[in-house]
Amino acid sequence: MLLNIQIILAASFILRYIQIAATCMEDCKDNSKSIHQKLINFNPPPFSTSEGLSYKKQIPLAVYTEIYLEDLNSFRPVTMDFRLDFFLKHHWSVPRNTCLILLDEAREKHFGGGITSKSMIIKAKEVKHMWLPDTYIGNSKVVETPAKDSSTSFIIIRSVGQQCTVEYTLRLAAIVSCQMDFKHYPVDIQVCPFNLRSFSYPKEMVIYVWDQEGPPPINPEMRMLRHRVAISKGKSEIHMLNMTYSMLYVNLTFERDLAHHLIQVFTPSALIVMLSWLSFWLGADATAGRITLCVTSLLALITQFSSIRRDLPPLSYIHASHLS
Ligand SMILES: *[C@@H]1O[C@H](CO)[C@@H](O)[C@H](O)[C@H]1NC(C)=O
Ligand SMILES: *[C@@H]1O[C@H](CO)[C@@H](O)[C@H](O)[C@H]1NC(C)=O
Repeated sequence: MLLNIQIILAASFILRYIQIAATCMEDCKDNSKSIHQKLINFNPPPFSTSEGLSYKKQIPLAVYTEIYLEDLNSFRPVTMDFRLDFFLKHHWSVPRNTCLILLDEAREKHFGGGITSKSMIIKAKEVKHMWLPDTYIGNSKVVETPAKDSSTSFIIIRSVGQQCTVEYTLRLAAIVSCQMDFKHYPVDIQVCPFNLRSFSYPKEMVIYVWDQEGPPPINPEMRMLRHRVAISKGKSEIHMLNMTYSMLYVNLTFERDLAHHLIQVFTPSALIVMLSWLSFWLGADATAGRITLCVTSLLALITQFSSIRRDLPPLSYIHASHLS
């Protein structure tokens, strides 16, 4: 009898646990249907992941872009490149309904921080299924995120009035190649374009638009040691492998600061040449002294020119400093 009661009690306990486990599984399933999965359906108008990335409407998606130049350094004529550290911000419109549902849900579930009734900030690496523009730097040799362990990109979903937008901000560093021309060296001016375009979406699907007029903002503390830099931007298209992509570019114009050359090259060269004139004061019979002076001046000049060559790639043409 006692044994029977014990068996019944044990059985009811087990049943209860199974019940709890079952409800928990329901709950867990609900929880696991997290923001990430909601984001699968959160794509801008011409796209839908359920049908693959497809183009439905005739209107391409406008991705508004802004760039903030944080640092510009390592201008290297020898390898014809320079390094650029920058923030890249994109924003584009999404359907308002999806946006509001997402914001409501995020608020209810207290998902992460940075959520208000109008906006939500998410770290980009937490987002797996949302469409993001695959912006690509056309003429870069290397692109890297400066801090590998901390996150360097985030997404803001923002609802303003009747509009809903997604903002995507990245911090990047790129080594950008530049086709330099040294014919006028050292009074050369190098125009180095830096271009942004989508890697996979042609202009029928995605077009890039500058968000603001005028030259892009730069870090006011940025200093270049040997150049003056002017920055302008523009918009064009690039045709490649039978596809046309919308493209944005920033022109960086490097103008060499001549003060450096004046101090390092012209002044010493001029002094050496003047020193060699001393041989005119030596008597006609002091041949040994005159030859020594000439040869020494010549060697000093050769050393000077080899120091210029170190700053330049091996050129097959004559540039202006050869003529000086
Ligand atoms: C940028 O540079 C390219 C090539 O050097 C030139 O064709 C273009 O007109 C420049 N654009 C601006 C806005 O300076
Ligand atoms: C290039 O694209 C056009 C139209 O999009 C197509 O008719 C043509 O066959 C393509 N050419 C090649 C070489 O793929």
